[in-house]
Amino acid sequence: MVNKIAVIGAGLMGAGIAYVSAWNGFNVSIVDTKQEFVDKGMERIRTDVMTGIDKGKISMGDAEGLMSRLKPTVNLEDAVKDADLVIEAIFENMDVKKEIFAKIDAAAPSHAILATNTSSLSIDELATATKRPDKFIGMHYFSPVPAMKLLELVIGEKTSDETIAAVETVGKTQGKTTVRAKNSPGFIVNRILNPALLEAIRMYERGEATKEEIDTAMVSIGKAPAGPFSLGDFVGLDIAFNAMSTLYREIGDCFKPPDTLKNLVDAGHIGMKSKKGFYSYGADETEPEPPKGADPQWIVERINIPAIREAMILVDDNIANEEDINMAMKLGASWPMGPFEMLKHFGVDKVRDFIKKLQEEFGDCYSMPKYLG
Ligand SMILES: NC(=O)c1ccc[n+]([C@@H]2O[C@H](COP(=O)([O-])OP(=O)(O)OC[C@H]3O[C@@H](n4cnc5c(N)ncnc54)[C@H](O)[C@@H]3O)[C@@H](O)[C@H]2O)c1
Repeated sequence: MVNKIAVIGAGLMGAGIAYVSAWNGFNVSIVDTKQEFVDKGMERIRTDVMTGIDKGKISMGDAEGLMSRLKPTVNLEDAVKDADLVIEAIFENMDVKKEIFAKIDAAAPSHAILATNTSSLSIDELATATKRPDKFIGMHYFSPVPAMKLLELVIGEKTSDETIAAVETVGKTQGKTTVRAKNSPGFIVNRILNPALLEAIRMYERGEATKEEIDTAMVSIGKAPAGPFSLGDFVGLDIAFNAMSTLYREIGDCFKPPDTLKNLVDAGHIGMKSKKGFYSYGADETEPEPPKGADPQWIVERINIPAIREAMILVDDNIANEEDINMAMKLGASWPMGPFEMLKHFGVDKVRDFIKKLQEEFGDCYSMPKYLG
């Protein structure tokens, strides 16, 4: 049973994880390399608490209780020595993470579960840094942690059933909906979101539709919260490029980042945070291209069907089940429907024909998933 959680890294994600843990009754230590980083993390948590108080969701008494359960420190050994669960949220770098997991493994009690919030690194490789791969798992939270309901549990080859069950309980106690994915590139949400962005950029590069036409169709007909180009600019094209590059490296050429994306990132045009990405923001707003007259319904199908196909491959490869994939895309990417609900909506025969035509025109990156027989 998990009572005490140690969160490693007091950045954006670590502070969020510490907050939802302390708010839901866990005793939490939060550690970073320098006092100023720990202070910054605690400041983030205080801001979240104040927001809760302002909205009437947290009483002053609850806020005091929450803060009293948090123990900030710069001493890693001290933070993990009596932890039942350690959740790591430091920089996204394999060597740095392995180094810290070796230290955590040496200092944490033998019963403690070790979890990582990595967005893209292999759980199995990270687990090799420890002597307890059965107690090693991915807990992939989404940002902002207090608001996002989804928690992807990423299961390594040696992760035990007890470990999965224990972190599932922790996630639920933290107010999250958990889904299970076997360790694989991009897990569920990033794996399925990437084909959607790739297809949008490829359509644009081929001159089939403008960015504005694609974004408008995806919002008005596809009922997406934002079109792929606006969403990319919002999330950050550097982040989108890194996520796609991971899939390119691990799965192959079908995920090669298109030149349009690479060139923007190379030029430092990484979206809203740099005032320029697919679109310009602020003073030098560019004129939209003249429309190409693409059918909005076709745009939606042309983008969503390759993403549905990717979801089917996850099922074919036994990485996740339909129910969890639907839930993950609705909660983690705010899709109005899960991919398998979309499959029903479009109709299985139509999706099969669509994929067949894509394969004839563009090759095996659009091969027919076993799921469709
Ligand atoms: N930002 C997101 O949207 C998001 C979403 C899901 C997962 N993630 C993953 O979460 C992890 C953290 O991301 P972030 O956005 O919070 O990064 P961040 O840069 O905001 O925070 C990282 C923190 O880790 C600290 N740190 C680095 N080395 C450390 C060490 N040895 N010991 C203790 N602390 C150390 C840093 O000082 C920093 O405060 C990454 O693996 C990232 O891929 C990020």
